[in-house]
Amino acid sequence: MNKVHINASKSYDILIEKGLLPHCGSYIKTICKAQSICLVTDDTVDALYADTVIHSLQIEGFHTVKFVFAHGEESKNSATYLNLIDYLAQNHITRTDAIVALGGGVVGDLAGFAAATFLRGISFIQIPTTLLACVDSSVGGKTAIDIQAGKNLLGAFYQPSLVLCDPLTLRTLTDEIYRDGCAEIIKYAMITDAHFFEQLKQQPVKEWEEEVIKRCVEIKRDVVMQDEFDRGLRALLNFGHTIGHAIEACSQFQISHGHAVAIGMHIITKAAENFGIAEKGCTEALEKILTAYHFPLAVTYSDEALFKAALQDKKREGDSITLIIPTQIGTCRMQPLPTENLLDWIKQGR
Ligand code: NAD
Ligand code: GLY
Repeated sequence: MNKVHINASKSYDILIEKGLLPHCGSYIKTICKAQSICLVTDDTVDALYADTVIHSLQIEGFHTVKFVFAHGEESKNSATYLNLIDYLAQNHITRTDAIVALGGGVVGDLAGFAAATFLRGISFIQIPTTLLACVDSSVGGKTAIDIQAGKNLLGAFYQPSLVLCDPLTLRTLTDEIYRDGCAEIIKYAMITDAHFFEQLKQQPVKEWEEEVIKRCVEIKRDVVMQDEFDRGLRALLNFGHTIGHAIEACSQFQISHGHAVAIGMHIITKAAENFGIAEKGCTEALEKILTAYHFPLAVTYSDEALFKAALQDKKREGDSITLIIPTQIGTCRMQPLPTENLLDWIKQGR
């Protein structure tokens, strides 16, 4: 069993082990006094794993109810959120009860936001089932839903009480969804750990998943424990995301998040090398690993279209935007820039 402990506004463990899912109830029992648990999941994950989780919770004596919504980012909205809140109320979920979020980042973000706000906050447990959710979204306490004005604009910082990660659940992911997680993994290596970057080059993630997830969660833990509320250092986790979000938006979300982040990291690294900030050879090293993980790096949108879309970034602060810039593999720095300079960065990175 791999275990990572986080000390933030709440202290909790992330447990990572193949075959953990059928025993999730017993781990939840050790940290949770709930009588009733509401399992929240999407329809795809429901068909695959909900029965296993409910069975395990019931063996431990929990009364269970289940809220299922249609899979996909389109469901991460106020309508699903309010339906979930009504469902919790109608099923007499009380302050001492809990929510279990079983699924990818969409389920975790939505269920987490419901947990943060229902009765002013009830416990929640994350059981991530995508690689991205295992290495990123289930950890660190960012919860949110999308509103018409943009993604993740309504949310709260609200830490889970436990994260249970069973890498066997990742076997049912499509290659594309699995790859989205790989982009975030390469991101962690780029921002903090050159040795990890080398290891990811030598051995594909799938061959040593548990260790990879643990390493990523440790990196995220170290950042979150220093800056839980995203006032500074946590921005490092956004490496590749400003341009990545712009690419997603330009493609009307046809290019997946991970793929867009991969291209975003590449553009910023190439620009940093051209500006003489990143060590020579960084771009080639990043290109090699991204290509090995099957990320196509070509983009058809114009520099101006990307620039315009990037200006919508919610991390923008007035006329300034903080870019995460690599100086070498495994080291990045944060640099606030006047927003108009971003166009030069995009041009240099293409
Ligand atoms: P997702 O939750 O939509 O999952 C992707 C697809 O995979 C869905 O169709 C889902 O039904 C399916 N799926 C999930 N687990 C499966 C499994 N084991 N087998 C087969 N299919 C499975 O997307 P995601 O990529 O996991 O997460 C993206 C979301 O996460 C976005 O909304 C993003 O904003 C959010 N996010 C949040 C944070 C955070 O810190 N809170 C960080 C990164 C991303
Ligand atoms: N995924 C970025 C963060 O948690 O801050």
